Amino acid sequence: MNLETIDWQALERLRHTYLAGTAGNADYWRNLNDLDSYNQTFAQRIGWKWDYVLEDLQQLGWTPPKAEVLDWGCGSGVAGRAFLDQFGADTVTGLRVWDRSSLAMDFAMKTARKRFPELSVQSGLPEAPSILLLSHVLTELTPEQTDELANFVAKAEVVIWVEPGTYESSLTLIAIRERLRSQFSVIAPCPHAEQCGILAPGNERHWCHHFASPPPGIFTDPDWSKFANLMGIDLRSLPVSYLVMDKRPRAAMSAETYRVIGRARVYKAHAQFLACNRCGVKEYELHKRDFASVFKQVKKGNVAPLQEWQVTGERITGITTRADEEAADEDDSASE
Ligand SMILES: C[S@@+](CC[C@H](N)C(=O)[O-])C[C@H]1O[C@@H](n2cnc3c(N)ncnc32)[C@H](O)[C@@H]1O
Repeated sequence: MNLETIDWQALERLRHTYLAGTAGNADYWRNLNDLDSYNQTFAQRIGWKWDYVLEDLQQLGWTPPKAEVLDWGCGSGVAGRAFLDQFGADTVTGLRVWDRSSLAMDFAMKTARKRFPELSVQSGLPEAPSILLLSHVLTELTPEQTDELANFVAKAEVVIWVEPGTYESSLTLIAIRERLRSQFSVIAPCPHAEQCGILAPGNERHWCHHFASPPPGIFTDPDWSKFANLMGIDLRSLPVSYLVMDKRPRAAMSAETYRVIGRARVYKAHAQFLACNRCGVKEYELHKRDFASVFKQVKKGNVAPLQEWQVTGERITGITTRADEEAADEDDSASE
């Protein structure tokens, strides 16, 4: 972040427009400096959410097809850059950006060309997108525009859609998943391709969201503190909802795979998780006396998003240890 170049008034205006829910009404990018200020601040936070989602895809062993990437509603272009950073610019045939703002497309193209000089970068909408990236666009679309966008998404080969982890965004993504799941393989976050378990009776208060982690350095960085104070933002919290679908077939996950939703609630002798698997979305309990070292990690906030559990009723009775848990266990015993 370069404080000298940040237009704080522009950021305050953007934040106000977002909070008032009026961002969809008209193009709010006034000049390239607006985009640069956004790119150094809000877009960084969105980039950490993308890193979380892309890391999840890597853990799942998913790789993109060799095709063109379209960043729809690109803003400053953080989604396209995060994707290319993760998979490599040489794994795709090019990057296309699209936004209702031509200033945004110019900014996104310029920054992508600088970062990936070998890559073909252009703007505009193809008839049918190949790898479609969508990031933080839902709150700016009317229901009719969302409907139209879902029709466009249906034409894609792959869609990676990242939104704020709010109730409204999550429920909209779930509705889009329900509408399109017969045409795609569902890759993430769902460990199954059936109807979303959040939609089951009794789960009305839940939504599908997860938490990305910001780089630890920002908590001691005075520039990020200034940003957080001025914008009224809690730097620690990065809630994210996302949906990844692919037209290519995909092997089903094991019936023992669970996706943890939200944060675990930790009590004295047990932890409670809301988790999703092919049997639905339910609360599960991990008891300290069953899994002392795992419980200790959970207390520290170390919970791998995907778990392999055996359960009896609501109680977790078996955990198939994953590599990251083994590493956590080693850390744990080293610090004792
Ligand atoms: C909150 S910004 C997100 C930008 C970027 N995707 C990111 O994650 O940082 C939303 C973007 O969607 C664009 N947008 C809003 N409505 C749009 C529409 N109907 N068609 C295309 N772009 C739109 C805005 O101009 C803005 O750049």
